[in-house]
Amino acid sequence: MSRGLKISDLIIPDPAPTSSDDDLESSGGWSLTSSVTDYVYENGRRYPGFGPDGAYLYPNDDRENERLDLQHHVFRLLKGGDLHTIPNAQFKNAKVLDVGTGTGIWAIDFADEYPEAKIRGIDLSPTQPEWVPENVVFEIDNLEDQWNFTSKFDYIHMRMMLGSIANWPLLIKQAFENLSPGGWLESQEVLTCAYCDDGTLPPDCNWKKWEKLYVDAAREFGRPIDIAMDLKGWYEEAGFVDVVEEVVKCPLGNWPADRGQKENGRYLRTSLSEGLQALSLATFTRVLGWKADEVEALTALCRNDLNNRAYHGYFKFYFVRGRKPEEKKPVGSIGRSNKWRKYNWEESSGPSDFRSSSSTLDTLTDRRDGGNA
Ligand SMILES: C[S@@+](CC[C@H](N)C(=O)[O-])C[C@H]1O[C@@H](n2cnc3c(N)ncnc32)[C@H](O)[C@@H]1O
Repeated sequence: MSRGLKISDLIIPDPAPTSSDDDLESSGGWSLTSSVTDYVYENGRRYPGFGPDGAYLYPNDDRENERLDLQHHVFRLLKGGDLHTIPNAQFKNAKVLDVGTGTGIWAIDFADEYPEAKIRGIDLSPTQPEWVPENVVFEIDNLEDQWNFTSKFDYIHMRMMLGSIANWPLLIKQAFENLSPGGWLESQEVLTCAYCDDGTLPPDCNWKKWEKLYVDAAREFGRPIDIAMDLKGWYEEAGFVDVVEEVVKCPLGNWPADRGQKENGRYLRTSLSEGLQALSLATFTRVLGWKADEVEALTALCRNDLNNRAYHGYFKFYFVRGRKPEEKKPVGSIGRSNKWRKYNWEESSGPSDFRSSSSTLDTLTDRRDGGNA
């Protein structure tokens, strides 16, 4: 399976495209509260009505769910099929949280691949299937609220939460607080801005016009979509260590020469062609005051750009991970041996008492180590 390209790699255009380049290969229950299904229908699409301010600007209908599943496939293609980037991960008995699980497709695939892990997928919308592997459970909740989990997770996964979150540093801090020491957080996000290495993508093309309007509108709404490059800094601020950011290129369309890149580009293009309306409709109408048919007209022109093989555009996909440090054991709580107890000056008769006790010798060593032993 083809992997995504590193950001330093050049994508070589295919000089002799064929018509088959355009073919796409065929490729636990949830808990529900009544307000969750108070959907809003607008311009032919269904949106979640969760929350007082209709804060989620993207549909949750079948059409959107199909797009999300296709997007899942793009992410897997870019990582050679891998669902995560955590090094040497076993996930045996791991407690896993999938933030904004969508159709639950990642959680279900992960549960199949790691049958000994327990996965909890949480979303605003009950759009997950009913029949799922035994080790997955779906719940409906708003993860922008205070997290009240009663136990910690070993791995928290968030993917494509761009445009959903008002306070990213807070979300990442909450993830940090809800991980066990040594646990991992991972984000997989995309920057929806088209890059080009050979000057073939005109800066005034319709795609560029659309992307600027979209990025600005999302910022104005208070839920930015251009967050991928800030993730690493937010992880570090929250206290994560071993933070790694991998940036992978995915072509916009089937213009590359390499078969694997062509395939990645084809899937991304299909997902975007389908998704442009979902991404823009509520954002442009509610935030920018556009009419729905104006949005349709611009997105149709963007689709032409996506299909233009002369434009060698690509997206950057970000895979960011960080580990919560192991807890430093405070002085006085290090159980070196079962006999050890904290030295108590008040109870003792003085330094001679201190020297004569083997258990208190441990205490002394611990103090010199700063408690890190
Ligand atoms: C673009 S979709 C990504 C779905 C999934 N992570 C994936 O990669 O296939 C974003 C999802 O996040 C959910 N979401 C947005 N804001 C949320 C919140 N505050 N709490 C829980 N879920 C949220 C949406 O309902 C939607 O299903």
